[in-house]
Amino acid sequence: MPYFKHSELVTQYHVALKTVYNWIDAAKQGKVDLELLEHGGRTYIANKQSNVVVLRQLAQEGKKYRNARFQKVVAPKPEFYDLYNRQQILDIMTNLRTHGEIPRQYGYFNGGADGWDVVMRRHEQEEGLTNILKGTQELIHINLGAIDRLIEGYSKINIVDVGPGNGIPVRELLEHVMERGVLHRYIAVDISKEMLRIAERNLREWFGDALPFEGYVRDVTYERFSDVLVDDLLDRGADQTLNLILFLGDTPVNFRSFSDPLRTIYGSMDGKALLVCTNKPDTETSRRYFEFSATANRSELSPGHRLVLDLMNVSDDLYKAEMGFDERRMMRYVRVRLNTALTIRFRFENSMHDVNLEKDSTILLLRVWHNSALGLIDEYQRVGLKLLQSSMTKDRNYLLTIFGMEETETLI
Ligand SMILES: C[S@@+](CC[C@H](N)C(=O)[O-])C[C@H]1O[C@@H](n2cnc3c(N)ncnc32)[C@H](O)[C@@H]1O
Repeated sequence: MPYFKHSELVTQYHVALKTVYNWIDAAKQGKVDLELLEHGGRTYIANKQSNVVVLRQLAQEGKKYRNARFQKVVAPKPEFYDLYNRQQILDIMTNLRTHGEIPRQYGYFNGGADGWDVVMRRHEQEEGLTNILKGTQELIHINLGAIDRLIEGYSKINIVDVGPGNGIPVRELLEHVMERGVLHRYIAVDISKEMLRIAERNLREWFGDALPFEGYVRDVTYERFSDVLVDDLLDRGADQTLNLILFLGDTPVNFRSFSDPLRTIYGSMDGKALLVCTNKPDTETSRRYFEFSATANRSELSPGHRLVLDLMNVSDDLYKAEMGFDERRMMRYVRVRLNTALTIRFRFENSMHDVNLEKDSTILLLRVWHNSALGLIDEYQRVGLKLLQSSMTKDRNYLLTIFGMEETETLI
């Protein structure tokens, strides 16, 4: 497109729509050096590199000279500083400033983990409906034979559940591997210790002491978990041990880059490890899927989506929730639009940091990348994984894939 849509500029530069009109007026009066373009009787800012430089400058200046009278200032609650460590807080600040986003992962902490548990328990009870939990359960059930074939010959199976949620999706696979007498370790890796606690509570209820639960807090955007597996891999019985890694519940679609967690997982796998994933490929229906709230049939922000906002004292009278599908980016979203200019004031021992957000700008709370089944498989293979097995649910809404490591040919 030869020009920027006004809405694109609002999202890109976190400014109000009115600010875009002001820039256009200023350009018409020759006060700023922006090239304009007429289309359908309306004036737009041309999509040119020289304009991008000026737009960045204008957005920066706007932030500096914002009128303090119209600026609402909030400060995060003490619980915010208790729940997130300094690195995570810095990450939240950077994401707000640079991307107008709160990464979804921080919404699984504390009450957000309980919220996820409630939604999953409701999904489990829903009759006649498909959802990601039921899709994952159906796919694991019909693939037990394929998994048996792939783990055949190994007497010690380590199941590494990356982002286990409340543990319900892995239950049947654990029962199966335990019945065969080959489960060596069950290892859950999650960013949220509260989520790990919920998974542990459920697994203890189902399996008692027969299942030794190991939980590790890691952010798989960048933290590998190979250290947890090193003893088994260097042990005398290593050739009898297989690491079966699970990444269930369509988790990577929420990351800014789908491939970030895949690279971490790939980097944590030894040569013979297997990766089992479940995803929800793009369909017309899935683009309209917004059932995240704890109460059935209510389109409100779920506890996990609003957790960080609440902890930062951004109360719901300051925004309006929006949910939709962005066709250009092939992304479903849940976000809030601010009805006032807002400063979030973060305090540390000896410093204060402001994050300034414009009126009408948005904060993204959830992204769900949409991709076809083949497109998803391609994403996994691009990090070096090799497809060994794939199947869809009967209703064709959910996909299970099993990958191994790509074998490189030995150079002679
Ligand atoms: C969409 S839920 C899926 C849960 C479960 N696998 C299922 O199928 O129901 C995402 C899970 O990944 C965890 N998670 C999200 N982002 C993470 C990150 N960056 N690092 C580690 N775990 C993360 C969440 O806490 C949660 O347990």
